[in-house]
Amino acid sequence: MSISLAQIKKTLLYDFKSGHELNKAIEEVGHIFNHMRENIKDYHHDNRLISAYVAYYLTTNYPKFKSVIDMVRIDLSHYEHIVDIGTGPGTFLLAAANLNSSLGLHGIDHSEHMLTQAQKILSKLHPQREITLSKKLIKPNGKTLYLFSHSLNEMTKTQALDYLNLIEDEDILLIEPGTRESFQKVLALREEVIRKKYRVHFPCSTESNCPMNTENDWCHQYIFVNHANDVEIMTQKLGRNRRLLPLCVQFYSKTQKPKSTKAMLVRVLRPTKHSLEWVVCQDDNHLINLEIPLKQFSKKEAKLMQKVTAGHNVDYELIKELPEKKRVKLLSVDALPRNL
Ligand SMILES: C[S@@+](CC[C@H](N)C(=O)[O-])C[C@H]1O[C@@H](n2cnc3c(N)ncnc32)[C@H](O)[C@@H]1O
Repeated sequence: MSISLAQIKKTLLYDFKSGHELNKAIEEVGHIFNHMRENIKDYHHDNRLISAYVAYYLTTNYPKFKSVIDMVRIDLSHYEHIVDIGTGPGTFLLAAANLNSSLGLHGIDHSEHMLTQAQKILSKLHPQREITLSKKLIKPNGKTLYLFSHSLNEMTKTQALDYLNLIEDEDILLIEPGTRESFQKVLALREEVIRKKYRVHFPCSTESNCPMNTENDWCHQYIFVNHANDVEIMTQKLGRNRRLLPLCVQFYSKTQKPKSTKAMLVRVLRPTKHSLEWVVCQDDNHLINLEIPLKQFSKKEAKLMQKVTAGHNVDYELIKELPEKKRVKLLSVDALPRNL
């Protein structure tokens, strides 16, 4: 599932005169994200920077939605509406519109400019769909999936909690950047949703404290995505790889049945010549290092296994208890990466 730069260019608020001008503006937005987070709001009010955001981040983040829905195993037909909090230019509403033709689509953003951009994109690309865009969260009637999409990361804790109080008991999906800073915010929200009697369904199935030491580690996943040719060319010109994307995904629900998971792969360490070295978070909420001897796989399987990324459920059988890790036989990995 991908979207092309050509499709999206027709919908921008700002008309870039050249590829060079566009790339310069993308670099400006990247600089704000990486080095000027205290000025993050600056780009929300500038049509040129919003358009650069759309050209680069919308096009490359758009495929995340389907990958996350598959990874978390969410059945979209279970919902009547999706509300995207911090929808920006409507990246994930656009992806949801393509994935499901009957979902009610609602975007919330505090930036008027972002909402104008979202309106332009969605009405050009999905003229037949009714889409509600607003600054305030108004709860739709019916089963709703609430999404925070790269937005919790830009909110204060109070703002996030205000949304949480409005959401009440509906399901919540977080798709946030796979950074340590972002995970700190995710953890704070996780504590609050657990206090509100939600169950955690992804990435773990425990309401206990996260065992990660957030000083030097954080729970995040990776997905492989395919981009349209012109998007791929843009990322290459910018010298960036947007095909392997780190992200921080969580799913909370009060009504869905939790799926049992033996262990979640949370970190792929450097393999040795003879083994894969993984860190998994077990269903008893402990982090365990696994040594997975390669000799248990055929050559083809071993090649596939080298491409497995954090975020997959795994099952294994103990071969030998070692001083700091377990040597194991791998019984299953819930899904192998796409595009192999
Ligand atoms: C990085 S953009 C993400 C946009 C879009 N969800 C995406 O993934 O491409 C973050 C968005 O969150 C919005 N935002 C930040 N704080 C917000 C808040 N308290 N309420 C609503 N929107 C907020 C910003 O205006 C911005 O559009």
